[in-house]
Amino acid sequence: MVASSFIKIFSIVMLVALSISAQRECPSIQAENNDTEKKRFIVIFDKKVKNAAEDNYEIMKECYKIQVQNINSDEKNKVEEDKIFRRHRRAEDDHPTRNVDRIDQAKRPLNGKFIYPDSAGEGVNIFIVDGGISLTHREFGGRAKFGRAFCKGCEKEYDINKHGTIVASVAAGKTVGVARKANIIDVRVLSYKGGTTTDLIEGLSFVIHKHKNSKYKNSIVNMSLNVIPPSRALNNVVKEVTDAGIHMTVSAGNFETDACGQSPASAPSAITVGATFDTNDTIADFSNFGKCVDIFAPGVNAHGAEAYDDNGYVVFSGTSFSSPLVAGTLALLISKNGNKPPAELTKDLIKLSTKGVVKGLKHKKGTPNTFLRTPAP
Ligand SMILES: *[C@@H]1O[C@H](CO)[C@@H](O)[C@H](O)[C@H]1NC(C)=O
Ligand SMILES: *[C@@H]1O[C@H](CO)[C@@H](O)[C@H](O)[C@H]1NC(C)=O
Ligand SMILES: *[C@@H]1O[C@H](CO)[C@@H](O)[C@H](O)[C@H]1NC(C)=O
Repeated sequence: MVASSFIKIFSIVMLVALSISAQRECPSIQAENNDTEKKRFIVIFDKKVKNAAEDNYEIMKECYKIQVQNINSDEKNKVEEDKIFRRHRRAEDDHPTRNVDRIDQAKRPLNGKFIYPDSAGEGVNIFIVDGGISLTHREFGGRAKFGRAFCKGCEKEYDINKHGTIVASVAAGKTVGVARKANIIDVRVLSYKGGTTTDLIEGLSFVIHKHKNSKYKNSIVNMSLNVIPPSRALNNVVKEVTDAGIHMTVSAGNFETDACGQSPASAPSAITVGATFDTNDTIADFSNFGKCVDIFAPGVNAHGAEAYDDNGYVVFSGTSFSSPLVAGTLALLISKNGNKPPAELTKDLIKLSTKGVVKGLKHKKGTPNTFLRTPAP
């Protein structure tokens, strides 16, 4: 970290080349083209020069009512564009589904509102690695795009299974979802007949590729699929995904057993999500548990978009529908506060979570008692 006194924001013309020593000359600046003229830049002074930041700041203030030339390329990396931060306005939904209603508050009773940052996951890509999404559903309002299909017999719109559409809508749907302005990318690895570990790994490799080539590196993967027994290959790819800076949420699984016994739930860098009842915060009877679970979210009677009716809805239960609530919450955090490496964002998520409200964990040793909470606006 650079000490804050070394960072100053200048409303100036363009790239700044700093002659770091505290000489009393104007540092040079050049306007590269007209597009950049009105931008603001953050100038980071070299640590070596103790008081240079303050000194130079005064000089800069005087100098840059003007234009200067000559870029010293060594200094380029010390200049970064000042990003525009959204103001944190709040948005409110007065008729949220119960699962979404629950996660913006610490305790019951539900208040019939879902209050969330107005940025709502804007600029974040949520990859749904699943059985396909019905992209035209009203919940998505054009924000859902096809990525690629890696399974046989799942390429066509009418081949998709229902699961992916529900999951996507819970993560980012405009009325049943959490991150209502996020982008959704459909990565298909599962047909009616199921999928293979290879399809899954190829799907995740595609996500890494897309992420690396995208302009905005705000990506989240949600995977509701698990293979038993744990797959070393799959867990390795999960590590590659998170190492690439992509956040990953996965379901704990629905076998009422230890989540460490499957993949990717057992992958350490994935955020593994267990399910609670929608009515009372008790762990759902089907939910997996144990130390590989990171967090709980409601997963019973989840309302989601129906695959073959653009205006239809269905109700489903499973840890598959808890995990997208977490994916959506990560998107809210990113659009509100900026992105971070996966391990750090996971820490923020756990810190924000409500502790001790999940019931029924007494005999499920090692299971953390953390319950999902969305960030305040
Ligand atoms: C910048 O804009 C001015 C006036 O609008 C124009 O004369 C000049 O050619 C432009 N320069 C570049 C690099 O586009
Ligand atoms: C999220 O993951 C869960 C469980 O891993 C899965 O059931 C669900 O389909 C996934 N949702 C999306 C949108 O990928
Ligand atoms: C929680 O609710 C579920 C279903 O709504 C019910 O089956 C279960 O017994 C309840 N648990 C507690 C501890 O109240």
